[in-house]
Amino acid sequence: MNPMQSSAGRTQQVPDGYLAFFPNPLPPHPVLALDDEGMLALTKAEFELGRLAQMAKSIPNPDLFAGMYVRREAILSSEIENISCTLDEVLEYEADTDHVQSKAVEKVVKYVRAFHGGLAHLTQTSKIDSVLLRDLHGILLQGEEEGNPGSFRPRQNWIGRAGSSAAEADYVPPPEQEMYQALGNLEYFVNEHQSPMAPLVRCALAHAQFETIHPFTDGNGRIGRLLIALILCQMKKLEQPLLYISLYLLENRAEYYERLTGIRAKGDWLGWIKFFLLGIELTAKEAVGVSERLVALQADMNTLVQGQRRGPQLLRLLYESPIIDARGVKRHLDVTLDTAIARLQKFEQLGIVREITGRKRGRVYRFDRYIDSLDDGWSARKALVRAASAPVAGR
Ligand SMILES: Nc1ncnc2c1ncn2[C@@H]1O[C@H](COP(=O)(O)OP(=O)(O)O)[C@@H](O)[C@H]1O
Ligand SMILES: [Mg+2]
Repeated sequence: MNPMQSSAGRTQQVPDGYLAFFPNPLPPHPVLALDDEGMLALTKAEFELGRLAQMAKSIPNPDLFAGMYVRREAILSSEIENISCTLDEVLEYEADTDHVQSKAVEKVVKYVRAFHGGLAHLTQTSKIDSVLLRDLHGILLQGEEEGNPGSFRPRQNWIGRAGSSAAEADYVPPPEQEMYQALGNLEYFVNEHQSPMAPLVRCALAHAQFETIHPFTDGNGRIGRLLIALILCQMKKLEQPLLYISLYLLENRAEYYERLTGIRAKGDWLGWIKFFLLGIELTAKEAVGVSERLVALQADMNTLVQGQRRGPQLLRLLYESPIIDARGVKRHLDVTLDTAIARLQKFEQLGIVREITGRKRGRVYRFDRYIDSLDDGWSARKALVRAASAPVAGR
């Protein structure tokens, strides 16, 4: 790592002889003032977020759909780390339909669980602390031998080409003692709401600082982006967690990393903040379109199941688990297997679900229109990025 000194911190030689980065506490000093461009970016991001919040109020039962947004974000945030799978794979895995066996899907499903853990936590308290981050990390890496699930890193780590030493690394985060200090400070910064800083700016700074601290052996990118989502919820800018930024970060991955480096090397906080705010603006705009489609879809579905005695019940289940088999329906709705099969067949006749296996037994049904209307092109865009980029080397 090159020597660095900036308002974000400085490199220092550690006893083992290489350089590590010692971050300064947030907020940056001297006090960070947004320039005109930054103010405009903030205004636009807040405006689009406000429009999304307004739109979201017209979605009936928004809780039902949160799971789909969470899965999407888990998939895209994982893709940034080259952990790659599709939404259908995740849904089939969750439906336990003996279809999918892949490490990537398992990792994404654990991400989904960690995400729900974080959201559930925020219904109890708005405090986002180190204990929470560690707990979420434990869920994210559950059962993985490497990566110290549920613990902060016990020793130095670094970011660089595969096999590179600390001396050759692109970035070496602080040693453990400074890491704990920096985490304590970050925790204070995230939860201290008296300061006049705009919440979106606070969120941008917190993510960058978390990546600079890099407190886990593995999973720092994913937990750091989960932290963005949790802070956005904590800010209460949105009543529902409908806004996630990972597609933007994935599509702009090189700039994402450059901006993080720019903070440490040059103290370029403003460059990162503007990049982040543009992401919020664009992402919120896209999310409005999805919400509108959801409202229309729900109205159509309600008409379709009208007069079906237990139709609404199955419909609710399908919003949460849009790929499902009869065993799943039996389990969730507490009905017999025959009833579950009959209900799914009825929904198939109504054109709500489609059978996807072509089998006589063990049939699996997919709620096509719902899954597709929540996909505003993100799957295709993810596939494009994947095709275009050679895998990025890890540690
Ligand atoms: N200079 C950098 N180059 C690459 N990634 C960086 C850099 N600085 C910080 N990062 C962050 O580190 C993350 C990768 O860390 P890692 O612990 O492997 O996360 P994960 O397991 O979620 O893959 C990236 O997604 C990014 O957020
Ligand atoms: Mg990793």
